[in-house]
Amino acid sequence: MTLKIPRHDINREPFMTQSPDFNRKSQLLQTEHDYKARIIATIPLTSEEKLFQVRILDPNVRERFSFLPGQFIMVDLPGCGEIAIGIASSASNHEFIELCIRKVGKVTGMIHRLEAGAVVGLRGPFGTNFPMQKMQGSNVLLIAGGLGFTTLRSSIYWVNEHRPDFKEVNVLYGARDPSQLLFKYQFEEWRKVYNLNILTIVEQPDESWAGPIGMITQLFDEVPIDPDDTFAIVCGPPVMFKFVCSHLSDLGLPRQRMFVSLERRMHCGMGKCCRCNVGSTFTCQDGPVFAYWSVMNLQEAI
Ligand SMILES: Cc1cc2nc3c(=O)[nH]c(=O)nc-3n(C[C@H](O)[C@H](O)[C@H](O)COP(=O)(O)OP(=O)(O)OC[C@H]3O[C@@H](n4cnc5c(N)ncnc54)[C@H](O)[C@@H]3O)c2cc1C
Ligand code: FES
Repeated sequence: MTLKIPRHDINREPFMTQSPDFNRKSQLLQTEHDYKARIIATIPLTSEEKLFQVRILDPNVRERFSFLPGQFIMVDLPGCGEIAIGIASSASNHEFIELCIRKVGKVTGMIHRLEAGAVVGLRGPFGTNFPMQKMQGSNVLLIAGGLGFTTLRSSIYWVNEHRPDFKEVNVLYGARDPSQLLFKYQFEEWRKVYNLNILTIVEQPDESWAGPIGMITQLFDEVPIDPDDTFAIVCGPPVMFKFVCSHLSDLGLPRQRMFVSLERRMHCGMGKCCRCNVGSTFTCQDGPVFAYWSVMNLQEAI
C-alpha cells in the first residue's frame, strides 16, 4: 500500500525537515571584519532614492565577497554613523555592489551628498536570504511595495540568471505614484529577455499614467496563481505583509511558501546589541527574511 503524503503538511515540506542553512555562514566572509569600498557611480532614481555602485578596494576581498538575495550590509560613514542597507545587485556581480538608498535622516542624508570617488566602510553580508534554490521548479510570485522593490531586485537578478529553473515568474509592484517606481528602466529588458510578467499599480496617478490605480492586491486578479506550485516573496512596509499575505492565504497559498523581509532598526547587524528584537527574535540574525508562517503571530512583527 502506498502512503499518500498531503501536499501542504509543513512538517513534510523538504525545507522544513532540513536545518535551515540560508546564511551559508561557512561560505561567507567573516562578517565582523570591515572593509573599505569606493563609490564608483551614483544614479538618481527618484526624488528620494539614489542607486550607489560601490567597489570593494581590496581585490582579494572583492573576489571573495558573496551574498544571497535578501541579505543586507552595514554601510559606515566614519564620524556620522552606520546603517543597514539591503543589497540590490546581482549575487553573481563581483565587480561592484549596488545599494539603493532612500534619504530619510542623518546618515542616509550624508550618503546622498557623496559623489563617485568617495570611500565608505562596509560590514557584512548579514542575515538570512530568500531560499531561491528551494523555489526551483516552481512558479514564483515577487511582490513589492515602495522601497521594498530594492530588496526584491537581487532575487529578480537571480531568477533571470537561472531562468530555466523557474516556471511562471510574476512581479507585482505597487508605488504611491508613477514617479516613485524604482528601476522602471529595466522592466522592458526583464519582460522581453527573461520572460517576466511585471505588473505595476499606483495609488495616486498623474497625467502620464495609463495603468491600474489602487492597492497592490488588485493585481492578484490579473495573474493566475497555482497555490500547489507557487512560492511568494513579499517586500515592503510591514503593514503590507498582513493584507498581501492574507490575500495569498485566501487564494490557497501555504504560509510556509510566503517569505517576507522584516527590516527593523539595526545597529550591530550581528546579534550583539539587542536593538532589532521582535520578542526573542533577532531580526538581524534570524531574519531579515522569514517564512511568513513563522512570524505572522509574533507580536509587533507585522
Ligand atoms: C535589513 C535592512 C535593510 C534595509 N535596506 C534598505 C535599503 O535597501 N535602502 C534604504 O534606503 N534603506 C534600507 N533600510 C533602512 C535604513 O537602514 C534606514 O533608512 C537608515 O538606517 C536610516 O538612517 P538615518 O541615519 O538616515 O536615519 P535616522 O536619522 O536615524 O532616522 C530618520 C527617520 O527614519 C526612521 N528610520 C530609521 N531607520 C529605520 C528603519 N530601519 N525602518 C523604518 N524607519 C526607520 C527613523 O525612525 C526616523 O523617523 C534597511 C534597514 C534594514 C534593517
Ligand atoms: S542589530 Fe544588533 S542585535 Fe540585531
